[in-house]
Amino acid sequence: MKITVIGGGSWGLGLSKVLTDNHHDVLVYDIDAKIVEKINTLHICIQLNEDIPESIRATTDLTEAVNHAHVLLFVVPTKVLRVALADVITHLDEPKLFVNAAKGIEPDTFKRVSEIFTEMVPPQYFEGYVALSGPSHAEEVIRGMTTLITSASENEAHATYVQNLLHNRDYFRVYSSTDLIGAELGGALKNIFALAAGLLRGQGLGDNATAALVCRGLVEMGKIYEHFGATQDSLMGLTGVGDLIVTCTSPHSRNFQAGYKIGKGKDLHETLDSMTMVVEGIRTCEAAHRLSHEHGLDTPIIDAIYDVVFNRVEPQKAYDKLLSRDQKPE
Ligand SMILES: NC(=O)c1ccc[n+]([C@@H]2O[C@H](COP(=O)([O-])OP(=O)(O)OC[C@H]3O[C@@H](n4cnc5c(N)ncnc54)[C@H](O)[C@@H]3O)[C@@H](O)[C@H]2O)c1
Repeated sequence: MKITVIGGGSWGLGLSKVLTDNHHDVLVYDIDAKIVEKINTLHICIQLNEDIPESIRATTDLTEAVNHAHVLLFVVPTKVLRVALADVITHLDEPKLFVNAAKGIEPDTFKRVSEIFTEMVPPQYFEGYVALSGPSHAEEVIRGMTTLITSASENEAHATYVQNLLHNRDYFRVYSSTDLIGAELGGALKNIFALAAGLLRGQGLGDNATAALVCRGLVEMGKIYEHFGATQDSLMGLTGVGDLIVTCTSPHSRNFQAGYKIGKGKDLHETLDSMTMVVEGIRTCEAAHRLSHEHGLDTPIIDAIYDVVFNRVEPQKAYDKLLSRDQKPE
């Protein structure tokens, strides 16, 4: 099959590797000519400094990219998604299956990425939408290390179609799901708790605190899942607890890394400026905090991270406030 990947960064190239290992014809589009050149000439992912298969081709020509395939796989950070999608839309002349692997929620609107696609893509060009999510660091996938993710769509046939495209018996196992809302919420919300996990570690706390954070974070995610009608199966699956565990315990996670630096006393803005890759937990935290307050959901960890990031509360103070909450049954 032919597949176009929009965004030739870490995850775009991780997924491109899986697709080419599955013998698909992959064309990567990136807005950055330097990235495209490195893919075509040196066959590397510059963000990760890792080799990629020579058969992955890249272009800065959006017409060529959109015409290449029926399946358009978006892997750009959510904060630039509207811009990237608007560009693609101007090149559409037939229906496409839109697949998205970026994780996040729009702060102002609390829109999930699928809602942005259905809002922006003219119906005559919109065949369907599939989200890819789950515990998957690009660093490991690009080296062919075992990874399991979920292909989620309200349309079961679309979910299984993309599952088949990506499933690789050697190292990449893909499940399908029709709980699109759950898959999207999990992928976005876990980044807030990754920031929190980094903060804890930066402040010198240990494994017990991290495990507690994962458990209590899952409770907060569960409240938001329930509010949006997402299922318990998703909460307890790869896109929920699976992604939460990997992102809260792995130094690969850039949200974890950002939290760690802030926990060590580095200034927030200095920290964000020093990161070469996106820290999506910040935007998602803003969105989740607003949502919790508008709907009266009790989410103390999300509130604490919001206070540290947006109200410049000292991490130690936010931590003290969390621990001094009234005792209650679990
Ligand atoms: N890196 C991971 O391990 C990983 C894993 C799962 C999901 N994700 C998600 O994937 C998304 C992308 O993350 P990443 O790590 O690949 O980011 P990245 O920063 O490594 O790469 C993003 C790429 O998008 C390109 N880009 C930016 N604007 C564009 C536009 N308008 N059109 C085309 N290309 C554009 C950039 O030039 C860059 O190459 C994020 O939402 C992230 O949460 C990442």
